[in-house]
Amino acid sequence: MENPLVQERRDGNDIRRVLDTHYVRLANDYDNFLYYSPRFVRVLSSKMIEQLRLNEDDTLVDLGCGTCIYSLDILKQVALKRPVIGVDPYAEMLAKVPDDAPIRPIVMDGFEFSKEEGIYDKILIKETIHHIADRSKLFANLHARLAPGGVLLLVHVPPDVQYPLFQKALERCRSWHADPHELFEQLQRAGFRVQWNSVDFPHAIPKERYFKMVEGCYMSALTTLNEHELHDGLVEMKLKYKDVEILEFIDHFDYLAAIRD
Ligand SMILES: C[S@@+](CC[C@H](N)C(=O)[O-])C[C@H]1O[C@@H](n2cnc3c(N)ncnc32)[C@H](O)[C@@H]1O
Repeated sequence: MENPLVQERRDGNDIRRVLDTHYVRLANDYDNFLYYSPRFVRVLSSKMIEQLRLNEDDTLVDLGCGTCIYSLDILKQVALKRPVIGVDPYAEMLAKVPDDAPIRPIVMDGFEFSKEEGIYDKILIKETIHHIADRSKLFANLHARLAPGGVLLLVHVPPDVQYPLFQKALERCRSWHADPHELFEQLQRAGFRVQWNSVDFPHAIPKERYFKMVEGCYMSALTTLNEHELHDGLVEMKLKYKDVEILEFIDHFDYLAAIRD
């Protein structure tokens, strides 16, 4: 039988390869695919501000910030006195952040960042936690990075997504996304007081646009599938939605606010 450590290392490498392929390729289309609309971003970002109890004096870290869609919208609503610290391992994603934005980009893995010295008031992790393997250790590190009264906010899409995807992709999301109950417990074990809220946003988007997003592997779970699985999946979707022009679905986000008392 294979040594479980060897197995874990091999799987870890495979996952990293998927993410490298995914984010380097997606960077150019990321905002085009995932911004959806100013209203969508505002609904999510205003809830972030509320859950982070964000005020102008705070130092905010956006861990796994990508192109900083959410920090940029937060900055339109709260005049932070210090630049947002935007951390992401992919320079291709950070390159999309406007040069004149009050955001300090740091090209670094989120787990590595959590080990570095520094004290912050608020940390946002949106749709990134499933890319970090040792979450218990990450939360313990981030607990030590927060000032007393500080907040770590996870905004997270759970495994059971309600997207109009094909079956294989829906199944893959179930193992690819992190379980929010597990995250809740891991945060508590790291010493946080945790509050759980959620946002349900109803999307209505043209079918052709959504199909293009799927074809372009807009979610990393899709990049884990091979060419044939993706092709067959698109055929399945075309058949299923042949009489529909606008796809309507709910985007559910858990907001886990972890407070350092
Ligand atoms: C789904 S995107 C979310 C981006 C952004 N937070 C947003 O909501 O638009 C996931 C982000 O996690 C980043 N990422 C992947 N692995 C990471 C890691 N180990 N540490 C920190 N960020 C990571 C990716 O580069 C990508 O920008």
